[in-house]
Amino acid sequence: MCHSSTGGDRTAFPDTFINELVARNDIVDVVSGYVRLGKKSGSNMFGLCPFHSEKTPSFSVSPDKQIYHCFGCGKGGGVISFIMEIENLSFPEAVAFLAKRANMTLPEQEDDRESKKRSRMYALNKEAARFFYEQLLSPAGAQAREYMAQRGISKATATNFGLGCAPNAWDALEKAMREKGYTDFELFDAGLVKKGRNGGWYDTFRDRLMFPVIDVQGRVIGFSGRILTGEGPKYLNSPETLVFNKGRNLFALNLAKKSKSGYILLSEGNIDVVSLHQAGFDSAVASLGTSLTAEQARLISRYTDQVIIAYDNDGAGQKAAQRAIAILEKLELKVRVLQMSGAKDPDEFIKLKGPEAFAQLIEGSENQTEYRLAQIAKKYDLSVDAQKLDYLREVEDLLARRPSAAEREIYCRRIAAQVSISPEVLIGEVANRRKRILRQTAAAEGRGSPTRLSQPASGSERPLRYDDPASAVAEEGVIRLLYLEPELIKSDRLPAAEEFSSPALGHIYSVLRTRLAEGKTVSADVLGGELEAKEVSLLVSILQKPEALSNAEKALDDYINRIRDRRRARERGRDPMQIYQQRKEELEKHT
Ligand code: GTP
Ligand code: MN
Repeated sequence: MCHSSTGGDRTAFPDTFINELVARNDIVDVVSGYVRLGKKSGSNMFGLCPFHSEKTPSFSVSPDKQIYHCFGCGKGGGVISFIMEIENLSFPEAVAFLAKRANMTLPEQEDDRESKKRSRMYALNKEAARFFYEQLLSPAGAQAREYMAQRGISKATATNFGLGCAPNAWDALEKAMREKGYTDFELFDAGLVKKGRNGGWYDTFRDRLMFPVIDVQGRVIGFSGRILTGEGPKYLNSPETLVFNKGRNLFALNLAKKSKSGYILLSEGNIDVVSLHQAGFDSAVASLGTSLTAEQARLISRYTDQVIIAYDNDGAGQKAAQRAIAILEKLELKVRVLQMSGAKDPDEFIKLKGPEAFAQLIEGSENQTEYRLAQIAKKYDLSVDAQKLDYLREVEDLLARRPSAAEREIYCRRIAAQVSISPEVLIGEVANRRKRILRQTAAAEGRGSPTRLSQPASGSERPLRYDDPASAVAEEGVIRLLYLEPELIKSDRLPAAEEFSSPALGHIYSVLRTRLAEGKTVSADVLGGELEAKEVSLLVSILQKPEALSNAEKALDDYINRIRDRRRARERGRDPMQIYQQRKEELEKHT
């Protein structure tokens, strides 16, 4: 999923440069820009992991070792890995980011095809946005201008958002971009043209009002186009490209992040966002035609701790709001939900009732417990006793899951009054239910953990399993020893990487060994230039385990023996003929 943190686009920076870069970007300072670190435990600082949702801190930063490691999701690395992961950058991009932060100039780089391709794509997108914008002012934009007028979008707003229009033609953009020196293939990779049946290219966006999607760093990453006339889907978005990932970006967050309002207004439609900003609600954003993702929520949580949901006032909108609440709450964001009546969406509401009425709506917006209770109440006729009981059962379940005892009591009292029962009864029921839920969750979390112990924690995306945990523990030991005691590289007993049972550990080992053999230093940061993000995480988790260095040579020997024993044991389980054949071949090679 995280396309940019996989390998393939690594650039060789000199170690001296990387080491200085790391020295000038203290990991505690850098991480503190994203995570509230506190609670020292030993020499480590702890905070809530920015890479997975959690309520108790398991994300640790070691100022001594200059590494981070999450005991929950397994992610870890040095300061460069951290920036790659959190800013969604490639290794060279993260290096550039940190160099800028520390006021360092980058050394001459070897060419880096992927990062070049990316920057070409950003430049192309910017040119395309400029083209669409110019079209809006030209005769070809008459229709779009008329549409904007009809929707009440001012010229200033259009400029603020960089709105534009794709003319009603097959190749207007293609021609213009070719003139600027971009190839059809570049246009295709950026999702701006498609291939026709006759082999020619045609513009993806035609006869549409164009909304550029701009990331928080101000780069045009893609487009969203609303239909003007003619046929086709109402909205068309850029496809996923090297720089555009719908689920990781939000429309207008580039503007909203600068808002002083203290909250983010989350709406569904691009037009709603434009209209809200125009009315002065400058913290409005929208997810790009999909329901809110956890990544988008995390992105929001970087800028605010309060979200106000202003989704459409229909069934689909309310359902989407429920899903969004659940996602936002996991990140401990305070969520409120607007209840608009008499209008289908924020755009219409503002048109009909004006910005002041909308501001009042925000004032009186319900926190999400109130909102959910109201949603539940709507389902039942509370004058019928049987329905009252069903209502209470659902309410109890909701309240039992609220972490704050004060909150539970307040709502219990309110609901009890509403259905005329004694508050103590309801408070008691909720308390019992809460105990049951907590017991169940504890039991669910306990299950399976013993088997996980000898397995690497490796994030939620692609769990890494060791085929032979007993051997893997020794393989980890060899890696740890070599990392901590580079002198051991002189040992003549070091195994070949192929002897490792785990391919991932084998790869880490071979990179480590090569570097040490060349007399180079090792750190999570310099290794980050040669290892996949997943491998860096694995390495850091290996380094978390204790290793006594008092008799390192003996320990290394023991590990190597274990690896070889396990290898023989695995082979014994195989076809004897096959083993015989392999031995014979090995023997012949050596004689
Ligand atoms: P208006 O209806 O003109 O007010 O536009 P809107 O921006 O409010 O759109 P609407 O409420 O219909 O839809 C909300 C959002 O869903 C849009 O902004 C789009 O991001 C997305 N969306 C709507 N229709 C489509 C579609 O046909 N295709 C895709 N991919 N997304 C759509
Ligand atoms: Mn709408």
